[in-house]
Amino acid sequence: MLNSKLPDVGTTIFTIMSQLSAEQKAINLGQGFPEFNPDEKLIALVDKAMKDGYNQYPYMPGVAPLREEIALKMSTLYAAKYDPLTEITVTNGATEAIMATILATVSVGDEVIVLEPCYDSYVPSIRLAGGTPIFVPLTAPKNEGESFSIDWERVESAITEKTKLLILNFPHNPTGITLKENDLNILEGILDKHNILILADEVYEHIVFNNKPFLSLSSRPAISAKTFVISSFGKTFHTTGWKVGYCCAPKALSNEFRKIHQFMVFTVCSPMQYALAEFMKDSSTYINLASFYQEKHELLYNGLLKTKFKPIRSDGTFFLLANYSDISRQSEYDFVTELTKKHKVGLIPVSAFYKDSTSEEANNYLVRFCFAKYDATLNEAINRLIAI
Ligand SMILES: Cc1ncc(COP(=O)(O)O)c(C=O)c1O
Repeated sequence: MLNSKLPDVGTTIFTIMSQLSAEQKAINLGQGFPEFNPDEKLIALVDKAMKDGYNQYPYMPGVAPLREEIALKMSTLYAAKYDPLTEITVTNGATEAIMATILATVSVGDEVIVLEPCYDSYVPSIRLAGGTPIFVPLTAPKNEGESFSIDWERVESAITEKTKLLILNFPHNPTGITLKENDLNILEGILDKHNILILADEVYEHIVFNNKPFLSLSSRPAISAKTFVISSFGKTFHTTGWKVGYCCAPKALSNEFRKIHQFMVFTVCSPMQYALAEFMKDSSTYINLASFYQEKHELLYNGLLKTKFKPIRSDGTFFLLANYSDISRQSEYDFVTELTKKHKVGLIPVSAFYKDSTSEEANNYLVRFCFAKYDATLNEAINRLIAI
């Protein structure tokens, strides 16, 4: 008989809501993927790489030109020094990098701290490694104009002798909050006192608004020495279906990471890697992403002000939360289900990012909108929501 390793894992809310949106012919602002194609130049570069013969197994940690470009970007943007030979590994999306980091660091009985609400791959990955997830909630917004915030005292008090890893994801999905300088100061203090490692999920690193610099955990040497910094080209170049990401970590950490990567997937699609390496030589391809998405953020935020939703501004990501308590007092799940059926706009309940989506803590009358969509799609969704 098969004993399930993940007995609690079912179909994810993203799949359920996307299916419901399709059935209902609703506008899907639920699942987080861009509606638009990548740049034509990038597509042409993949074509060229294939014709140039880059179609066989590439080098296990990723092709040299791509690791070199990543190293250059990390040093230019974050003053972070990573040796492309030994400290940068190209992965099958951030998801593989998250799994490889957890399998490389967590053993049976170890504890891993995750901040709720959190991205859905963390907890199953911890459980597969035999670890125990320890949940620390972000503080939910209480008043209008507020957003979620981190309670660092709660984070620190969750650390025990068994804690191996702390998972941080900023800019944060689903809340859209980012870290401030003071958060990094506090984190440095915590790392000074406790012997733990960090997984920094920075897949939205290039989507930070209001001309603010992104404060990568790689930018502080005292933090980066203990951190696996993970990112994804899917979010940056509108290529979520290509599943190419990477992990930067000090040599000793990368060495263990690569042992897992080697036997989980061995390597990553070759022509995509060569194309990405060439494309990212022009830094405007990722530097301009923040302003591209900020316009969409403003469009959706201002549009929602004309509805009964109360939108909350995001500092980054392509997500925005809104409170619907003036429309309904249903649970978040029931609300989005009814909204999709009646008003033909598909969203994600924020409660889906908690271990117990039915708990009181998880239900704050909040829904997540993804605005990585054409303006026409966003405008049509806003019109449908105004009608409520
Ligand atoms: C916070 C976060 N981490 C990781 C991922 C996965 O990235 P990838 O598609 O590169 O595996 C996502 C995708 O939605 C995400 O939102």
